[in-house]
Amino acid sequence: MNSPLGIFDSGIGGFTVLRSVVERHGDIPCLYLGDTERIPYGDRPPAEIRIIANEISQWFSDQNVSAILVACNTTNSLALDVVERVNGVQVFSLIKAAVQMIFEDRVGVLATSATSASSAYRKQIQIYRPGTIVLEQACPAFVPLIEKGDCESDELRVVASEYLKPLIEARVEAIVLGCSHYPLLGSLLQDLLPKGVRLIDPAIGLAADLDRLLGSPKAGSKIIPSFSNTRFCVTSDSREFGSRVNKWLGGDPEVELISLRSTACLF
Ligand code: DGL
Repeated sequence: MNSPLGIFDSGIGGFTVLRSVVERHGDIPCLYLGDTERIPYGDRPPAEIRIIANEISQWFSDQNVSAILVACNTTNSLALDVVERVNGVQVFSLIKAAVQMIFEDRVGVLATSATSASSAYRKQIQIYRPGTIVLEQACPAFVPLIEKGDCESDELRVVASEYLKPLIEARVEAIVLGCSHYPLLGSLLQDLLPKGVRLIDPAIGLAADLDRLLGSPKAGSKIIPSFSNTRFCVTSDSREFGSRVNKWLGGDPEVELISLRSTACLF
């Protein structure tokens, strides 16, 4: 496979998807796009999210990607059909992957405001597992803090406790991390939850879904993640993005600044 996989998010969140893909499939060619100019997506109205999804899909088309991984749950919730329509390539979805990872009867979903308001997770889960009780919780404070590099401060712990409270009171047995930024908070969230509540990272399911395109990894093979075949692109502040992801990559990656917007006045 010479054409890269196109992976996109509003910022660093999609990195959790890239990491899962590389951990399962090795250092394959990937084209990562962080739409840093317009983050957060989660506070935007559906119409804007759909326009953005269209622009990104067109750009990926121009870059000849072999498939698109929608590494942003907000886009998955509100504009998956837009991405699927533009490209003649396979599109992989976090929500579709996540529902296959659920076997509990009482499930919480932490997500952006736009994803929660769309109820996309609840609808998909209940199609796949009718009768499942699903509670969706919007967490608008998370993405801005994570983008600042904060995955463990007291401030984060306080807001996380508030967000988790209704889910704990409803005695959920599992919680879907329904925004690709949130796996970066995995240990903080697990610390705040009662024992036995399982955190579900949809990126792991999505990486497994990719076996359909890339084949299954050899049983027992242990891959040390490396990103030398990933091209990183952002829509603003390329330097800052590089310094934010370097702690996971083990070095400052080269990050290209690209321009997506054809019609600046739309926003
Ligand atoms: N990481 C994205 C998601 O999975 C978007 C977060 C945001 O920009 O609000 O929803």
